[in-house]
Amino acid sequence: MNIDKLPIPLFIAHRGIRHRFPENTIASFQGAMDAGAHMIELDLCLTKDRQLVVIHDETVDRTTNGSGRVRLLTMEALAQLDAGSWFDPRFSGERLPTLAQVLALAKGKILVNIEIKPEAFEVHGPKDAIERQVLELVRSQQMEEDVLISSFQWQVLKRMRKIAPNIALGLLSNIPADDRLFSWHRKIQGFSWHPDYRVVTRPQVEILHQMGAKVFPYAVNGRIDTHRLREMGVDGLMVDDPDQMAVSSI
Ligand code: G3P
Ligand code: CA
Repeated sequence: MNIDKLPIPLFIAHRGIRHRFPENTIASFQGAMDAGAHMIELDLCLTKDRQLVVIHDETVDRTTNGSGRVRLLTMEALAQLDAGSWFDPRFSGERLPTLAQVLALAKGKILVNIEIKPEAFEVHGPKDAIERQVLELVRSQQMEEDVLISSFQWQVLKRMRKIAPNIALGLLSNIPADDRLFSWHRKIQGFSWHPDYRVVTRPQVEILHQMGAKVFPYAVNGRIDTHRLREMGVDGLMVDDPDQMAVSSI
């Protein structure tokens, strides 16, 4: 990812346009593209048969008509579930997408922030560990320049850096930036910091900038917060609704 060529502010559609579409579905990502977002953010988990499925929670209960833990269901079973009706009956045809399906949709059209969920990290590092599968897929699609990989589980980013010297990596956190974060940023040669918007301060943004890092807070949805963060100098905003893009450009 070319750090100098990104638009400022970078608009990142959080789980797609999740205020208008069922989150983490093809409809939500297409909606983000139609709304003019620069990047989509998605959540990635491993299925029972070790496939890459796009879903936020550890269970399917909240965002599908099924129940149970993602890790205990096969991709075939997950693909049968209705991932749209819970949001609105108009979206009853939506399914839980695979990462491959989302990359195919996005390729050449929009950047992709892949958030690897902490529960998908495996300490023993098997050959088909999630970080290895993600890299293989991204490379097979020739999308290394188009993706930004982030996680609250920083170990998975360290593993990714070992196998992918050039891929963009972002540290996720819900606490203010501290020495530990700065150290990890250097260790993984990070691209960006993705903080909960409520913990961001101007001095922190300045330090991160001095270190060469972009700052992309999540998930910013109010006019006041959008302006406040823009004034702090953040480089992008993860938003649930495209209206924030219009607010921010005023
Ligand atoms: O990637 C930023 C943000 O999505 C992290 O929190 O819970 O919405 O995945 P969450
Ligand atoms: Ca996320």
